[in-house]
Amino acid sequence: MSKFLYGIDFGTTNSALSIYDEDKKEIINTIKVPSLLYFLKEQSAASEELNYVVGEHAITSYLEDGMKGRFIKSIKQILSRSSFIETKIHHKRYNASDLVALILKDLKAKADEIVGYDCKKAIIGRPVFFDDDSTAKDTLAQTRLSKAAALAGFTDVRFQFEPIGAAFAYEKTITKKEKVLVADLGGGTTDFTYLILDPAKSGNKNRKEDMIASGGIYIGGDSFDSAFMWDQGTPHFGKNTKYEATPGKVLTVPISLFANICSWDQMNFFNGLRIKKDMENYYHYSKRDRKFKNLITLIDNNLGYSVFQAIEKTKIELSEQEISQFAYSNMEIEIDEQISLSQYNTIIQKDINKISVYLDEFMAKNEIKPEEIDSLFLTGGSSLVSGVQNLFKTKFPHISVTSGDNFTSVAKGLAYSGYLFED
Ligand SMILES: Nc1ncnc2c1ncn2[C@@H]1O[C@H](COP(=O)(O)OP(=O)(O)OP(=O)(O)O)[C@@H](O)[C@H]1O
Ligand SMILES: [Mg+2]
Repeated sequence: MSKFLYGIDFGTTNSALSIYDEDKKEIINTIKVPSLLYFLKEQSAASEELNYVVGEHAITSYLEDGMKGRFIKSIKQILSRSSFIETKIHHKRYNASDLVALILKDLKAKADEIVGYDCKKAIIGRPVFFDDDSTAKDTLAQTRLSKAAALAGFTDVRFQFEPIGAAFAYEKTITKKEKVLVADLGGGTTDFTYLILDPAKSGNKNRKEDMIASGGIYIGGDSFDSAFMWDQGTPHFGKNTKYEATPGKVLTVPISLFANICSWDQMNFFNGLRIKKDMENYYHYSKRDRKFKNLITLIDNNLGYSVFQAIEKTKIELSEQEISQFAYSNMEIEIDEQISLSQYNTIIQKDINKISVYLDEFMAKNEIKPEEIDSLFLTGGSSLVSGVQNLFKTKFPHISVTSGDNFTSVAKGLAYSGYLFED
C-alpha cells in the first residue's frame, strides 16, 4: 500500500489539502474548503459533533437557519490574538486551537477517505508573520496551530512558510534555474519569498542555501473588505449618528461600533449584552435614526457575513470590470450603489501603499536588486485585485508575471516539501 503525506494550507479564507503519494512521488488529489464554521442555532441533544458545519455547507446552514446561530469567518486571525482566550457556544467552550482543529479535521476526514487510512503525517503552512512583527504573538499563533493539528489527529507534523510552498508549486512548472520573487496575497496576509528555484533540485533534501529571504505583512483581502466596509458600508449603518446624551447635549455615537463591524475578529464575537443595551439607548436618543437602526438589525440578526458577501462580490467584479454595483437588500437594509474601479482603488490605496512600502524595505534589507530577479510568481486570491497587479507592474516593469492556481498552489508546494521530514 502506498504511503501518503498531506500538504495543508490553512488559510484565512480558503483552506486546501494536497495528498502526496510518497512512493509515486506525485500529488494524487487536492481538496479545497472555505475556512468557515457555522454553529447551528439549536443544539441537538443526540450528538454534539453534529452541531457545527464546515466550509460551503456553513454558508447554506447559516442561511437555512435564518442566520441565528454562530457564524465564524477568518478564524486564522485569532490565532495571534492573545486577548482571545475562548468562546462559549451552546455551553461548550472553544479556544482558538479547538476552532481551527474543526477545519483541519474536516480536511483530514475527506483526505483519509481517499487514501483509505488514518494518515497522521502532514506539512502545514504558516505565514511568514502571523501578525505584524511581534515575536510573542507569532509564537502564540504557531503553538495554537500545532495544538490544532494534534487535536485533528496529526502526530507527525512539520511547518513550512506558505510562500515557500507556493514557490515549490511554481518550480514544478519551470524548466531552468531561476531567481524568483514569490508574492502570495491571501485573505489575511501578504507573504514574500525570494529564492532560487531549480527543477533539477525539486524535492531535494537540503534547499536551505536556495532560500534567500522571506517576509510578510498583515494585509490581505480582508483588509480591502474592511476598508470598503468603512468607506462605503458604515454610512448605511449610521456612522456619525447624533444623539442627545443629556437634555441639550448632542454627541456622536462611538466610532468604535463601526470599527467593530469592519473587522472579522471583532465581528465573530460581537454579541455582548451591554453593547446591545447601549445601542438601544443611542437609537432611542437619536430620535430613532433610520440608519442607526440598520446597525441594530445587523448585529441582532447576525447579518455580518451576508453584508461582507456583497462587499466581496463587488471586489471580485472589479477585478474583471471597471464598474460594479454594491447592493444589499435585507430586513429593511437597502444598499444600492455604483462603484467604479477608480473609486475602489482609492478605498484600498492605503493598504496598497503599505504593501508597497513593505516590499521596498524587504528588497533593501535583503539587498535584492530588481534587475537580478528572473521572474515574479503571484498567487493567492488577492493577487487578482487590479490595484495589486498594478503595483507589481509598476515596480517591476521588466519582469513578466506568472501565476499558478491562486487557491491551491500553496497546498501543493507544501506537499512537495517532504524533505522537511528528513532533517
Ligand atoms: N477574483 C478575485 N478578485 C479579487 N479578490 C479575490 C478574488 N477571488 C478571491 N479573492 C479574495 O482573495 C482572498 C482569499 O485568497 P486566498 O484563498 O489565497 O487566501 P487565504 O489563503 O485563505 O488567506 P491567507 O493566505 O492570508 O491566510 C479573499 O480576500 C477573497 O475575497
Ligand atoms: Mg494563503
